[in-house]
Amino acid sequence: MNVLITGGAGGIGRACLRRFRDSGANTWSFDRADNDEPGIQSVSIDLTDHTSFDAHLDSLASIDVAVLNAGICRPQLLDQTTQEDWRSTLEINLTAVFFHLQAIARRMKQQRSGTIVLTASTNSFDGEPGLIAYNASKAALLGILHTAANELGPYGIRVNAVCPGLIQTPLTAAAFENESIVKPYFAALPLGRGGQPEEVSNTIAFLASNQASYITGASIFVDGGQMASKFATWNDQNATFANGEWKLN
Ligand SMILES: NC(=O)c1ccc[n+]([C@@H]2O[C@H](COP(=O)([O-])OP(=O)(O)OC[C@H]3O[C@@H](n4cnc5c(N)ncnc54)[C@H](O)[C@@H]3O)[C@@H](O)[C@H]2O)c1
Repeated sequence: MNVLITGGAGGIGRACLRRFRDSGANTWSFDRADNDEPGIQSVSIDLTDHTSFDAHLDSLASIDVAVLNAGICRPQLLDQTTQEDWRSTLEINLTAVFFHLQAIARRMKQQRSGTIVLTASTNSFDGEPGLIAYNASKAALLGILHTAANELGPYGIRVNAVCPGLIQTPLTAAAFENESIVKPYFAALPLGRGGQPEEVSNTIAFLASNQASYITGASIFVDGGQMASKFATWNDQNATFANGEWKLN
């Protein structure tokens, strides 16, 4: 099985690559940064360069699983967001995903098989302040998801998305180190803690596998219950926050 993962040098992409590699797949990391872990083939690429992406794709015999996962997040309030903030975020988080998916779908249609997983976000649905470009990019991924699942289903190709909440990766390292951010954030999560990249890669691996053979066009939250909760779940009266998580007293 051949597996291509964009953003494969980052937190979630790296966990996915390990997971697929350990199950015996041939794995390719497409990222501007190297992934030099054993058994992973690292392609150094600017993913917004579509000509370069297509050329690298052509060098692979076939793609069975593609995880379109690379993304950036540049916090900025609505009225402070510059054209550069907007364009650079949409370029990698949305436009690149479309062109990657298009190129991969052309290959998979010839194969009459394949699975594609997009890394969307809880921000595909909610309006977290200070993230307007990011939120717009992740919301629009659902439009790609639904249309691609619809068009590609007849060719035996499934397309799904994971929607992670706050996951501990290089992207979120500063937040995880700041208790004044994570304590109230995690107080609103039923599971009372942030997520690990492996908890997202487990879901991606499931969606990509035959275990999910009747699932397409779906978006699955991997968020500790964030999108299911509206009211504070935890408080200092009945629980203690220590080592990055809430536990009942
Ligand atoms: N960490 C979270 O809490 C969280 C939550 C929801 C969604 N996500 C999404 O998950 C995905 C992965 O996030 P992560 O937390 O692993 O982030 P990360 O920063 O650890 O990894 C992202 C990777 O993408 C690569 N990348 C970005 N732009 C690129 C470009 N133009 N060309 C080549 N490579 C590029 C980076 O080099 C990096 O290795 C992103 O799409 C992110 O939006 C993350």
